[in-house]
Amino acid sequence: MADYVAAIDQGTTSSRFMVFDHDGAEIGKHQLEHSQIMPKPGWVEHNPVEILDRTSSVIQTAMNKLDLEAGDLAALGITNQRETTVIWNKRTGRPYYNAIVWQDTRTDKIAAALERDGRGDVIRRKAGIPPATYFSAGKIQWIFENVSGVREAAEKGDALFGTTDCWLLWNLTGGTDGGVHITDVTNAGRTMLMNLETLDWDDELLGFFDIPRQMLPEIRPSSDPNLYGKTLKRGPLQGEVSLAGTLGDQQAAMVGQVCLSAGEAKNTYGTGNFLLMNTGTELVRSENGLLTTVCYQFGDQDPVFALEGSIAVTGSAIQWLRDQLKIITDADDSEVLARTVTDNGGLYFVPAFSGLFAPYWRSDARGVIVGMSRYNTGGHLARAALEAICYQSKDVADAMEKDSGSKIDVLKVDGGITANELCMQIQADVLGVEVSKPQIAETTALGAAYAAGLAVGFWSDPEELRQNWHESRRWNPQTSDEQRSAGYAGWQKAVQRTLDWVDI
Ligand code: G3P
Repeated sequence: MADYVAAIDQGTTSSRFMVFDHDGAEIGKHQLEHSQIMPKPGWVEHNPVEILDRTSSVIQTAMNKLDLEAGDLAALGITNQRETTVIWNKRTGRPYYNAIVWQDTRTDKIAAALERDGRGDVIRRKAGIPPATYFSAGKIQWIFENVSGVREAAEKGDALFGTTDCWLLWNLTGGTDGGVHITDVTNAGRTMLMNLETLDWDDELLGFFDIPRQMLPEIRPSSDPNLYGKTLKRGPLQGEVSLAGTLGDQQAAMVGQVCLSAGEAKNTYGTGNFLLMNTGTELVRSENGLLTTVCYQFGDQDPVFALEGSIAVTGSAIQWLRDQLKIITDADDSEVLARTVTDNGGLYFVPAFSGLFAPYWRSDARGVIVGMSRYNTGGHLARAALEAICYQSKDVADAMEKDSGSKIDVLKVDGGITANELCMQIQADVLGVEVSKPQIAETTALGAAYAAGLAVGFWSDPEELRQNWHESRRWNPQTSDEQRSAGYAGWQKAVQRTLDWVDI
């Protein structure tokens, strides 16, 4: 057996390729950003061809840097930004339109119509998610309605849909020359088209969006001993490697954090935040604005489910301070600036740039900064941005405790902002729970590597993965209950101000 397993992590802002050993230790990686295309307010697109090119480059560069060959890899896994929608022609391999990104709100009228006429409740019951701009099916419908010839091509069987895992898998296994058209249950579950009980596309849901079944990929387990396919000799790995694991990035982080038992939870801090709790093989339906989602399915075992609180804007609010307001020059400066003050000075910032996701699901919400006085400085705004990351996570954690009936004792964390000591301390203070970070920070890519490695026997069973998890840092709450309640009450008032901003 080869010594390593690799993973592609195709994220919202960048694509990376990482190689891990049997202990789950990172051997090396390479990463490249891609363009964020924002043609109108609320619209966010990516160029799928640029994503494919960047992915090929990071694979080649990392393999060269590490002096590895395809034969050194036992398997390759893929993890990806979820929901982002690509439609391409299977004969030319060319996309019909840019990828419409999960953050894009152009389908707000489609989502509102679903809610008005009762189809939203059917989607909630069958797919476990509310009708929202976030998910793929509305984006497919928008392309059908706005890009000429795509609906006809889909009906003829020429147009294929996929999230970015599927787009990369199709290309890496042959593209127009016999590429496989496959996705996994965790990605399929984010479309509003998959029935959570059958784990198959649902005809009634397809009918809501008028989507022909033949354009959809085959749904397979997240870790598949039957393999999805092999990379091509003429591809970026220059050899055949088994493609055997795919997980949406937040589910991949659950696997990388070995949240493999019911009740275990993690929060990933990226462009958005995604707090998930494993609910075991039981489908827990949310009464409090969370999503019910497939956490993973390993081979022919029963699927494991999770409750998820998705938050659209957290790290991207820090990017906004950097790129639009220019009050910091890089993301790390947010901590330096926020440390120039000792509290938020009465200022709250709700960065509802893409509406509010969980637990509110209000695509009409827009961002606000409230409570300002002449006294406030950039330090207060930076502090408020960090607090917004933590308060949004509290909104979701509270909903999760209500839905699951169990309290989060220790919150495992990962993602870029966990390097921000102040933000993690605020998180422990706001939640009143301990926050714990693992030694291996790249949990998303690691989870995809685990899924692929389990499928080919590189790791023998999921329990073996627990041995690889070690804590690197823990933050304990340091504020009183009174301080916690007062701070949170201010946040809740600020959230109220974001609602009803735009009429749909
Ligand atoms: O659901 C969207 C999520 O998968 C995006 O994650 O880390 O690429 O921002 P990330």
